[in-house]
Amino acid sequence: MRLNPEDFEQRRCTLQAELDGHKTQAERNKLGQFATPTLLARDVLAYGLALLPKGEPVRFFDPAIGTGSFYAALLSTHGRRPVVSAQGFEIDPHYGKPAQALWEGTPLNITLADFTRQAAPADAAKRPNLLICNPPYVRHHHLNGADKVRLQEAARAASHVELSGLAGLYCYFMSLAHSWMSEGGIAGWLIPSEFMDVNYGRALKAYLLREVTLLHIHRFDPNDVQFDDALVSSAVVWFKNAKPPADHAVTFSYGGTMEKPALSKRVPVRDVERADKWTRFPKQDAQAEHDGYRLGDLFAIKRGLATGHNGFFILDEAKVQSLKLPAKFLRPILPSTRYIKADEINADGAGVPLLDKRLYLVDCDRPEDEIARDYPELWAYLQTGLEHVAPRYLCRTRRNWYTQERRPAAPIVCTYIGRSDHAGRPFRFLLNNSKATATNVYLCLYPQPLLAKELARDPAALRPLWQALNAIGRETLLGNGRVYGGGMHKLEPKELANVPADELAAVVGIPL
Ligand SMILES: C[S@@+](CC[C@H](N)C(=O)[O-])C[C@H]1O[C@@H](n2cnc3c(N)ncnc32)[C@H](O)[C@@H]1O
Repeated sequence: MRLNPEDFEQRRCTLQAELDGHKTQAERNKLGQFATPTLLARDVLAYGLALLPKGEPVRFFDPAIGTGSFYAALLSTHGRRPVVSAQGFEIDPHYGKPAQALWEGTPLNITLADFTRQAAPADAAKRPNLLICNPPYVRHHHLNGADKVRLQEAARAASHVELSGLAGLYCYFMSLAHSWMSEGGIAGWLIPSEFMDVNYGRALKAYLLREVTLLHIHRFDPNDVQFDDALVSSAVVWFKNAKPPADHAVTFSYGGTMEKPALSKRVPVRDVERADKWTRFPKQDAQAEHDGYRLGDLFAIKRGLATGHNGFFILDEAKVQSLKLPAKFLRPILPSTRYIKADEINADGAGVPLLDKRLYLVDCDRPEDEIARDYPELWAYLQTGLEHVAPRYLCRTRRNWYTQERRPAAPIVCTYIGRSDHAGRPFRFLLNNSKATATNVYLCLYPQPLLAKELARDPAALRPLWQALNAIGRETLLGNGRVYGGGMHKLEPKELANVPADELAAVVGIPL
């Protein structure tokens, strides 16, 4: 009986669900086993086919084939274009064997083997012209030292890519697949967009700009996660196996589908070369050329305190009272943001935040003998941390294991990781009118001398400045931060410092 593409896909999806069901999440993580959903696979295939020269027969290849979601998508999208060969590798027989059985009698040839150990076809005419792959997203921690050395050498030989030891398996897949591609062939890689921003992605980016013709990078909106069960924000990277022409430009798109992205822009390669982080395209390319004030010119931005052990060093009011700890060694400290409803933190006469959850940081810079002699209650409390807290790395590397780093109360703090709140804001700037310091779930913004001078002249200017911070476009902040899957955002102090700040400077009257 001949099955039509829809029947095949239905069977394949049932098989996929059954096979996934026999594995734990941890097992699937180890080999990066997260299948591509049908609609996404079809979207990718349709796009890839359109990049091939009209009428050119397809020689399909997926080096991490799983149950064959991309091949199934090829069957339903190739139209009249002939498919002359189709090949895939799968390392795990759990998926590979049933997939071989499913596709038996079709042109798809699945080899049960580790793709990274295979030699590319010597005969150039046999090389695939359409390589579509969702490679295993296996982080470098899961690759052992010997494997990394082997993979690094193989990547260098295949495509001149010098990968760092921090690169994930998908980077090796892309580098190694180079020698499999036919001259002028098209590749579409569904990969985490992380490589566009982090250091280990540099070698891959250089490859994409110099060894091949990078055509298009589409990033999906992470709030619309493509894989329900893998928390990565994904991109599809399209390129042609040919050296880039002079004056080449790359299409960067974001959101929506590849055919109909929410945003799209062609960026000349020379601009792409200059940009440290590619996720700023297509949104923030104007920002790359910005040469005005940056937030770091107005504020020194520091991560809040790493206490060494929040449970031990941060106590609520009741605990502080019952332990009778001396007030001079207690500093108010902000609770986590979920206890802070308003963006402005008010305080009582002593500078303690007027919040339902009132917390204190135990912080004492006196030597132990003095504490033992003069502050018996504090001494007694510290003794309870000797076994479990004092030996921790952060504590034992301090002058006194219980003395915290200096982190005065900052007039503005920023929550820098989290999913967008109901107003769609991934970050909140809080106006801190209290004397509370903050832990490292916050970034602390301390006025630089340039701003401090203006605020000394006009202290009321802090309020409009804070309002202006909260009005910074989501896109501007996100263009400078990292985007994780599931809409998680994270901003490093350096990244926040890099946000353009001409408008903020104008708010407080700093001349441009
Ligand atoms: C992200 S899944 C993609 C599966 C399928 N192509 C899809 O899109 O649904 C990656 C697949 O690669 C397989 N894999 C992992 N390491 C591999 C290797 N070294 N060689 C071949 N396949 C591998 C995994 O077992 C998994 O089935």
